[in-house]
Amino acid sequence: MAVPRVKEASAASATSGLTTAEAVREFAFSDADFRSLAQLAREHAGIALSDSKRNLVYTRVSRRLRALGLTAFKQYRNYLAQNEAELESFINAISTNLTKFFRESHHFDHFRNHVVIPFVSGPRSGDGRFRVWSAGCSTGEEPYTIACVLKREIPAGSRHDIRILATDIDSDVLARAARGLYPVSAFDNVPRIYREYFKPASGGRDGDNLMASEDIRSLIVFRRLNLIEPWPFRGKFDAVFCRNVMIYFDNATKSALIDRFIQTIKPGGFLYIGHSESFHGLHPELQLVGRTTYRRKP
Ligand SMILES: C[S@@+](CC[C@H](N)C(=O)[O-])C[C@H]1O[C@@H](n2cnc3c(N)ncnc32)[C@H](O)[C@@H]1O
Repeated sequence: MAVPRVKEASAASATSGLTTAEAVREFAFSDADFRSLAQLAREHAGIALSDSKRNLVYTRVSRRLRALGLTAFKQYRNYLAQNEAELESFINAISTNLTKFFRESHHFDHFRNHVVIPFVSGPRSGDGRFRVWSAGCSTGEEPYTIACVLKREIPAGSRHDIRILATDIDSDVLARAARGLYPVSAFDNVPRIYREYFKPASGGRDGDNLMASEDIRSLIVFRRLNLIEPWPFRGKFDAVFCRNVMIYFDNATKSALIDRFIQTIKPGGFLYIGHSESFHGLHPELQLVGRTTYRRKP
């Protein structure tokens, strides 16, 4: 059965100008479809999709076409234009959510030694508020890692006012993050001293899953937030983690975002970015103090 299909596809491609691979696709997907979806991704999420991301867009958005019972990307574009709510599902579909516990663990060593311990052991400054932002938190491994490090250093009964704000544009991953349930295999990178903060789910009945305990969960607030839109908070952060997020943005979006991060970090506070990210022309208010670790000048 497969042979005639490819033959048909070859005949079709000869007349349509599509490559055979494109012609055997389940859904019709033209240049105009790609350009229009890439423009939406840029406008609404800041995500820059170069031509090399064409197959990625096709694969990820195809799920939406199947779910909606559509047969061509042109139909999907019309559907998007007429149904504002679909934009959220579209952004969820195209965002890349790869993450893990203690990813780039040197950041958490730095955070513990240079941010948390000085805060906990120093004179109680101001109102004792300590704020961390995990911006682009995906399925939650990053904010739960931050919470583990904090929880271990905060003395029991401490009256410090500690919060981790964990945000993402993708509502699906945020729902998973808030649930805090992970397969045992996700904990390979978690140092033994932090494993006590994850408990067998449903009292062990949920076999291979572990659940974030209330001890660390209570430190985190999860919110949907699009980084390229206005931010609805005024307080400043002791540390911001925005790792492996700006990698998807173009330079203009990235540098506008860095300016905004600087304004939202306390003087002397820290910004952690992803391993493959760097700032072209370091901002005058930032000092590079470690591997992809920056400090706002005091
Ligand atoms: C690769 S994950 C990084 C997760 C985590 N920070 C880490 O380093 O492991 C990138 C996350 O950025 C989010 N993201 C992309 N564009 C965004 C935007 N405009 N606003 C907020 N989050 C965004 C994606 O939904 C995704 O969950």
